[in-house]
Amino acid sequence: MQRRTFVKGSLAVLGLSALSSYGVLEKTGLSYAGPVAGFSTPLPIPALLENKSVLPGEASFALRVQQGSLNFFPGLSTPTMGYNGDFLGPTIKVRNGQHVKVKVKNNLDEPTTVHWHGLHVPAQWDGGPRQIIAGGGDWHPEFTIKQPAATLWYHPHAMGLTGEQVYQGLAGLFIIDDEVSDELNLPKTYGVDDFPLVIQDRRFYRDGSFAYARSMMDIMHGVIGNHLLVNGAMWPNLTVPQAKVRLRILNGSNSSIYRIAFADERSFYQIATDGGFQEQPVALDSLFLSAGERAEIIVDFQADPLGAKMSLLVDQFAGNRFEAMQFTVAAPLAGTTELPATLTSIDWLTEQEAVTTRRFAMETMSMGGGRMGMGMMGLGSGGGRLIINGKNMDINRIDERVKLGTTEIWEISNRSAMMMSLPHSMHLHDVQFQILERNGQPPSSHEKGRKDTVLIQPGESVRIIARFEDYTGVYMYHCHLLEHEDNGMMGQFEVVS
Ligand code: C2O
Ligand code: CU
Ligand code: CU
Repeated sequence: MQRRTFVKGSLAVLGLSALSSYGVLEKTGLSYAGPVAGFSTPLPIPALLENKSVLPGEASFALRVQQGSLNFFPGLSTPTMGYNGDFLGPTIKVRNGQHVKVKVKNNLDEPTTVHWHGLHVPAQWDGGPRQIIAGGGDWHPEFTIKQPAATLWYHPHAMGLTGEQVYQGLAGLFIIDDEVSDELNLPKTYGVDDFPLVIQDRRFYRDGSFAYARSMMDIMHGVIGNHLLVNGAMWPNLTVPQAKVRLRILNGSNSSIYRIAFADERSFYQIATDGGFQEQPVALDSLFLSAGERAEIIVDFQADPLGAKMSLLVDQFAGNRFEAMQFTVAAPLAGTTELPATLTSIDWLTEQEAVTTRRFAMETMSMGGGRMGMGMMGLGSGGGRLIINGKNMDINRIDERVKLGTTEIWEISNRSAMMMSLPHSMHLHDVQFQILERNGQPPSSHEKGRKDTVLIQPGESVRIIARFEDYTGVYMYHCHLLEHEDNGMMGQFEVVS
């Protein structure tokens, strides 16, 4: 399988035997020790958001951005943020072709935005840093879904505030269905054999609050947690049918890269990348997801005896290994799912149709003789340490102009200096792209498909291709390590007619 370099290091060496009984190798020492891993909490399944429209071709939703609190540890309350609740948000489910209206109310006392990550929408409704909703304010985006079935997500995107607001709990899933997903013989009953898994890590202070700091270390490496949450719960259990089960996995962490596998190393099938189905299921025994990426997988519990328990392991890049959650196998479902050999057909873009190749160098620049000084990184454009093509984000500057209706190749390289060897997770708004090459090689099968976010390790270079169609306006491209994004590793492209 595709094990990237870092797995050959410490994590692989650790092996299963090194799992602590609580599944957490403490690292920062910041946190409260926490409850004992008992896998007694049922995995919370985010509710499906009610569609208030009665018209068949339309969907109408209401989202409230609010503060809340949650008890991650007995007797300690953690201040949180959520959509329509205390932590995370409901799952929005729509269909391709549907006209969607959302009434967003910001009940926070600070600005936010609601960005539809992976969704192809007009720039004014994208919910990026240009569509600020003031504290107490409203925003009423409306758009028509113009893309195939996929698991997308929504989260805040205000300049300098994204990382902290996501950390507090602002994130939710956005699922699109279409004729293809209707007809495929796949598990598709939400909460029964089709489950969302929002995987995030967190650090806590001893008083129970989230330890979201903005130290130089946290900005450069991202805020990396030593506790793992799945759908906002620590060590949850999910009761699954003795059947094939579909998991829609989002790496919703701020800055972690995860390798996800089952404790018995069973293989499973990946069926979708960020932007929808792959052409064929891809057999894997572990899955890599960088911050912001999604995958849908099919896991077969048919051969597991009733009552069997199976853990999901999550390794952080150069970090902790977590026993993230447990599955308990219960009664089978009527009917069997035979995994289809072909899922969909993808309109592959060819290099011949590309009108240009743009180059993007993601760099971590050190100032002052190559040494990173504490406190030298300012928010906004002053510091200029996290840069793309030498530039830190400036909302008043358009970095690239792309002609509407054209196809382009973007060649993105991670030029982090030796001292500051950091991975980046490049994300483009507006489009789903395809990976042409990673370091001169065709992408491995798990990255073949519609993508909106791609991991780029130090020294790596990735060539992607995308068609910019339907909408003009200004969109973002940025590193999805949220601490990098908040500190200016972002640029703007304008699609012009
Ligand atoms: Cu998921 Cu520009 O973001
Ligand atoms: Cu996005
Ligand atoms: Cu980055």
